[in-house]
Parts: sequence; structure tokens; C-alpha cells
Amino acid sequence: MHMHKYEKIWLTFGIACLIVFLSVVGVSAFYLGNKPPSCLTTINSEKVDQTKPFDKPGLHKVEGKEWDYELVFVASAFSYNPAQVKVPLGARVKVIATTKDVVHGFEMAGTNINMMLEPGYVSEYTTTFDKVGEFLVVCNEYCGSGHHLMSAKIEVVK
Ligand code: CUA
Repeated sequence: MHMHKYEKIWLTFGIACLIVFLSVVGVSAFYLGNKPPSCLTTINSEKVDQTKPFDKPGLHKVEGKEWDYELVFVASAFSYNPAQVKVPLGARVKVIATTKDVVHGFEMAGTNINMMLEPGYVSEYTTTFDKVGEFLVVCNEYCGSGHHLMSAKIEVVK
């Protein structure tokens, strides 16, 4: 079979790209352990207040885990619970959040924390708070008439 020279070049280029992209995704997922913020943990969105850990929103110290604290947020139209929370500087924190009603966002301005909160699902993200300051948490999914009012504050303190 005769193949044109350019066709061969493009085929090689295409296959090489595919190998590079799959390697990047593979290394990121299996070696660096990256995964989507929604880890497919489900929850009954009508019983959020009675379900652990959402029965006690806020910051909790934990022992024997890879993180020092769990920061639990419950979102509902149009607020977060807690609305304000203090986190010690340098703490390894697992942020655990869900919503009681519609889809909300959870974006911590100035950081790479940006999760979608979907009814029936738990979103998690583990991070280290290594900058002192006040961080605004905003909802970046349009959720209704009070969407623009929906925010919380995380204070990283020494
Ligand atoms: Cu909640 Cu927009």
C-alpha cells in the first residue's frame, strides 16, 4: 500500500500526540493521585442536616488521617454554613461540602479551590492553607435570585 509522505507524517504526529496526552493523564491520575473533586460519594440531599459530617458544619480536628482538620460546609440557597470560619496557618485541611437544594459553586477566591456542589453528592478537596489572610468563598453556579449574595469567609490565622 502506498502512503503519501505527508500522510505518514500526520499519522505519526497524531499517534505521538495521543501517547503524550494519555501519558500526562495517566501520570497525573495514578502517580500524582489527582482525581476530580467530586469523588462520587453520595448523600440523601433531604437529610443533609442529619447525615455525618454535615450534622456539624465547621472546622474539626481529626486524628490518624492524612489531614489535620476537616472543614465541613453545607450550601443552600443562598448561604453557606458556616458563614465564617478560622483555619490555622499551615494546616492540612480536607474541605468537605454538599448542597441541600440546587447546584451551587464553591470557589475560594485567590486559590485553586473550585468545586461544584451537586444535590446528592459530596465534594471534597484536600489542601494546605499556607497563606495568612481572609479568603472569600463565592458561589459561581447560578442558583437563583440570591446567587450574588451567596458567600462565606475563611480566615487563615497564625
Ligand atoms: Cu449558590 Cu449561586
